[in-house]
Amino acid sequence: MRELEGRAVLITGAGDGLGRAFALEVASHGAVVLVNDVNGDHAARTVAEVRAAGGVAEADVRAIGSAEAGEAVVAACVEAFGRVDAAITNAGIFHQANMWDEKPETAEAIVRVNLLGVIHTATPAIRRMRAQGRGVILNIASGSMAGNAEMSLYSATKGGVMSLTYAWAQELEGSGVRIHAMSPFAYTAMMKTSTSKAAEGPEHMAPLAGYLLSDRAAHLHGKIVRLKNGSLHIARPPEFDPSLGQSSKWTLATIADALGR
Ligand SMILES: NC(=O)c1ccc[n+]([C@@H]2O[C@H](COP(=O)([O-])OP(=O)(O)OC[C@H]3O[C@@H](n4cnc5c(N)ncnc54)[C@H](O)[C@@H]3O)[C@@H](O)[C@H]2O)c1
Repeated sequence: MRELEGRAVLITGAGDGLGRAFALEVASHGAVVLVNDVNGDHAARTVAEVRAAGGVAEADVRAIGSAEAGEAVVAACVEAFGRVDAAITNAGIFHQANMWDEKPETAEAIVRVNLLGVIHTATPAIRRMRAQGRGVILNIASGSMAGNAEMSLYSATKGGVMSLTYAWAQELEGSGVRIHAMSPFAYTAMMKTSTSKAAEGPEHMAPLAGYLLSDRAAHLHGKIVRLKNGSLHIARPPEFDPSLGQSSKWTLATIADALGR
């Protein structure tokens, strides 16, 4: 029995890069895949590659980002395969600029695809998975979630994906639905426009997605796992350090004593 035999997996942005590698990986473990991409040629190419390897896939050509697209892509997966067992909210866009050079339309596009796209795709998928009593959401975060210079909007959307992952994990506790995020680092078309340079191809990242979707990860929930240059990391949620002191009435002066003047 293969690890993902018969599971219906929806992957957004699966026409190229990481999404394509995830599609090939999960199909190799027996999953049937809905390959979404805004680029129809690329979606068709991934579907053909999955089928050539003996797998099952259908294409969905839709721009992720709106509530309508999220509902429709989940419905397309159900129509194609009768269910949605896992969703990888992978579609994303990137650009690099100082914040003072950002144009409103680029700012809105990046938030729409990277953050609203995750929200609007995961929401209908989670509703179905809660009704089924099982399912896995895999969000795609980024090391940029901690904030990178000249990538502030991209970083903010990935920070938002991190917060969604941690918050949804609490809401989904005990529901049978698991949620994770992965933080990849791979040489893709997106990387060509970045000053960060990855040496490895997206196929190096794909086994982590396969693992997180599989029952072998059934004991994990709400984790953000990073794979970079061969190193596997698990993120620690951001936390506040209480060591600066306690007072019932902080003043400007005592705060300065604690934090420095
Ligand atoms: N490459 C990396 O090292 C890296 C690092 C961290 C995070 N990520 C994240 O991984 C994901 C995939 O990145 P990638 O490097 O494979 O990028 P990529 O540009 O190589 O591929 C992205 C794919 O998504 C599609 N897409 C873009 N907007 C879409 C939309 N609105 N609806 C549907 N499809 C859309 C594109 O057509 C393309 O096929 C993104 O969320 C990205 O932020 C990538």
